[in-house]
Amino acid sequence: MMKANELRNLYLTFYNERGHELAAAASLIPEDDASVLYISAGMQPLIPFLMGKRHPKGNRLVNVQRCVRTDDIDEVGDDYHLTMFEMLGNWSLGDYFKSDAIKMSFEFITEKVGIPISKLAVTVHKGNDLVEEDSEAVKTWQSLGLREHQIFYYGDEENWWGPIGETGPCGPDSEMFYVNELEDCSEDCGPACNCGKYMEIGNNVFMSYDKKEDGTLKDLEQKNIDVGLGLERLLILKNDLYNVYETDLFLPLIKKIEELSNVKYDLSTQKNFRVISEHIRASSFILADPKKIVPSNSDQGYILRRLIRRAIRMTLQLGVQDNILIDLARVVIDEYKESYSQLKLSESFILDELAKEYNKFNKTLRSGLKVASKYFDNLDDQELKGEDAFKLYDTYGFPLELTIELANEREKTVDVEGFKRCFESHQKKSRTGSIGKFKGGLAESDEMSIKLHTATHLLNSALKQVLGNTVNQRGSHINSERLRFDFSFDRKMTKEEIESVEEIVNDAINSKIEVSVSEMTINEARELGAIGVFDSKYGEKVKVYKIDNYSLEICGGPHVKNTSELNSFKILKEQSSSAGVRRIKAVITT
Ligand code: SER
Repeated sequence: MMKANELRNLYLTFYNERGHELAAAASLIPEDDASVLYISAGMQPLIPFLMGKRHPKGNRLVNVQRCVRTDDIDEVGDDYHLTMFEMLGNWSLGDYFKSDAIKMSFEFITEKVGIPISKLAVTVHKGNDLVEEDSEAVKTWQSLGLREHQIFYYGDEENWWGPIGETGPCGPDSEMFYVNELEDCSEDCGPACNCGKYMEIGNNVFMSYDKKEDGTLKDLEQKNIDVGLGLERLLILKNDLYNVYETDLFLPLIKKIEELSNVKYDLSTQKNFRVISEHIRASSFILADPKKIVPSNSDQGYILRRLIRRAIRMTLQLGVQDNILIDLARVVIDEYKESYSQLKLSESFILDELAKEYNKFNKTLRSGLKVASKYFDNLDDQELKGEDAFKLYDTYGFPLELTIELANEREKTVDVEGFKRCFESHQKKSRTGSIGKFKGGLAESDEMSIKLHTATHLLNSALKQVLGNTVNQRGSHINSERLRFDFSFDRKMTKEEIESVEEIVNDAINSKIEVSVSEMTINEARELGAIGVFDSKYGEKVKVYKIDNYSLEICGGPHVKNTSELNSFKILKEQSSSAGVRRIKAVITT
């Protein structure tokens, strides 16, 4: 079996032989960049060089960069989604371009990793106002032996990469997928779908634009290549395995959990084992960072707290009464110390912080779970009140996402907006600011989230218009990339219905409508026909946001000033969330 370290070296050597010098990987926490919490791609520390600055190692670079992406946290536990992963990256800073980049990645994944051509699928950009359909990429893939049915064309949502944050280098891309032996899940099944048939293994970004603050794209001085491949996923394929937990990156952790818990790793326990090992690995690496991030209620510390507390709850579910995290972190440190010496150097800090966080949460976890169960058992409808979710957060230390997870397990939802209102009013009262701001999940107020918030209002109304007035919001969650909206409805939406909803929202966007807000009493709002949460507990007066006759909704805000700021709206997925509740994931393109 090939070890992770051998695959890292195989990659570095392959690109080194093709003129690429090793660029030191960066710490997990970005330097001087407040726009993102964690390094999420290997290109991030290289942005100045992609923008034209000379790199001391030259214009062909290669490295292995740890990345944290929490967007997929709910997916962790399946065969290959991870919150922390290692990205194998190579770059051309104004040197070679598209076809050479594609040829090299192809050679690496087919000849060195051994993936048969017949098991590959790739995506290319189908063209937009600025760039044409990527025929050069298509021709290159064809010249390498890919057949028509293996090449998929998508627009900006799937095949435009970056920038990270609001501005900076970006461009069209061509992604590579491994195709599993599965039937298509629907007529439109393809790499964009996450039914499990397609596993992304890497991405070639043709990075030749710079996104400016005003949203326009300028040509970069140089045309760059930014390629990223997933180490863990390639390791599965290299070794003919089925999932990352069978590789040497995770197997020792799985074995250790079995030993410490006296529980067997099988189908019924596998999710717990996987989440525990994934989260403890990510947490150990975050704690090992020289920036000394510790669990807290804001920013990086909040993500870390979520990971650790989720892992703790998963151990409790396995029936484990002790703190096994420390022993598991020791395994991580041992297994990875050769490639990442910082782990060993930070050993006592990592173990101390894990012990502290465990002790803090352990005190309230069991009683909190009991209280939560009571709340859920006594629900009048499907949704847990925002104030109850806040109580779980404030008194028992339950990150909101943990409460949402408990709700999902019971096919219930949580009033996230209501939670935020309680959270904000508590913050105002305490005035200490000690709770701080959440990023990557909660009261995030960057520009994108504000836009998505307005898009959510439009979506809410459009759904009522297309599917009928019985449709009601069941939950909503926004991060800086997409919105997620749960609503009561008892069947799958048809393609036509999805298109009509998109059309209504895009119509509102194209009509460039001013978003207005006024304050009124709940009764006044109700009389006007506003939708939203009619709960007078949150104060006499409420804010009502109006988007012409498209939407009238009670909400705390914030929202964009004009719908034109949303540019265009697209539904990525419509799926079941729980009994009688559907879930939509949607994006806006800028
Ligand atoms: N930056 C690109 C990505 O993250 C390729 O490295 O997919």
